[in-house]
Amino acid sequence: MQHTGHAMLNASEQLVVAAAAAAAPSVFNTQPWSFVLTDDGLEVHADPHDASMPTASAARDVRLSCGAAVFNSRVALARLGHGSRVSVLPDAGDPLLVARVTATDDAPDPALDELYRWVDSRRTNRYPFRPEGIPAGVLALLHDAARREGATLRLLDGEPEYQRMLTSIRHATWTEDEAVRDDRDARLSPRTGRPAIPVGNLGPVPRRELPDDPPVRDMAEGLDLPGRGSAAFEPHPDLAVLETADDVPGSWIAAGQALQRLLLEATGHGIAASFANQPLEDAELRPDVSSGAAHHGHPQMVLRMGYATAQPPVSPRRPLSEVVRPGRG
Ligand SMILES: Cc1cc2nc3c(=O)[nH]c(=O)nc-3n(C[C@H](O)[C@H](O)[C@H](O)COP(=O)(O)O)c2cc1C
Repeated sequence: MQHTGHAMLNASEQLVVAAAAAAAPSVFNTQPWSFVLTDDGLEVHADPHDASMPTASAARDVRLSCGAAVFNSRVALARLGHGSRVSVLPDAGDPLLVARVTATDDAPDPALDELYRWVDSRRTNRYPFRPEGIPAGVLALLHDAARREGATLRLLDGEPEYQRMLTSIRHATWTEDEAVRDDRDARLSPRTGRPAIPVGNLGPVPRRELPDDPPVRDMAEGLDLPGRGSAAFEPHPDLAVLETADDVPGSWIAAGQALQRLLLEATGHGIAASFANQPLEDAELRPDVSSGAAHHGHPQMVLRMGYATAQPPVSPRRPLSEVVRPGRG
């Protein structure tokens, strides 16, 4: 039976929801969001500065990140015993208002409640993975997690698709535009003042060995950061592309929710993930990521998944007092 009544949240429940939202992954750990707490939920707003960054993929990545925060808030509401309703881009006059998440008096979705325990332990893992592949049954669960949020996780489990993707990733890694690299290095530099990606989360510098150059990029390429070391990475990790049917802001927000749902599910199954988005950041290579697929979707994220050899620390988050804005009644 469906109810549609709102559920009121007290102050400590509001903070549980906001903290879960803030634990979401975000592009370069920019945390490009702010949250407005309401009596019955929260609003997720995209940060106007990050959303207007000049890189081609900034608008998309900011919405993806905010979508992940939306998903975490639904998970927290389920843990608090509530249902939830999400209204995506509810105000045509305010495109930075990504979503309004409302607690309802429906019974909580047990599947969401179950995922709450992984919110704080999920992390992006840029360390080498063990060579063994992920069992088909677990991959099917991840595929289903994306599908439930309206996206498709295209598993690259057959040739020539897999080889094609390896080639695209390597090509994008080797030919990365200098401006893109400079922009990334500037964001990673400790001088920016914002906690971006700490050294311990960057993983070791990948050793490049042809012909099996691993499909990983060094997020701090060109920066001389002490204490990283270098390592050989697995040359053939499980790769998958998260896709959506359309390529508009609403799709990016859905992709962010799907991403977070499958990442939490993966964490629960001991699967680590990092991202190989470099071909998506290059306007010329981006179409390659979807071509060749039986069903053409719009690629939003490229995932590298596997069993970790090391666990990075939790990456820092801005204090909640910085990201939470005064509530509305
Ligand atoms: C839209 C989006 C794009 C991302 N792109 C990359 C990427 O290309 N390479 C990478 O290593 N990590 C990427 N990340 C992961 C973030 O850097 C990571 O979420 C952030 O540093 C916070 O760390 P955590 O995930 O461990 O909490 C991306 C995350 C999001 C949400």
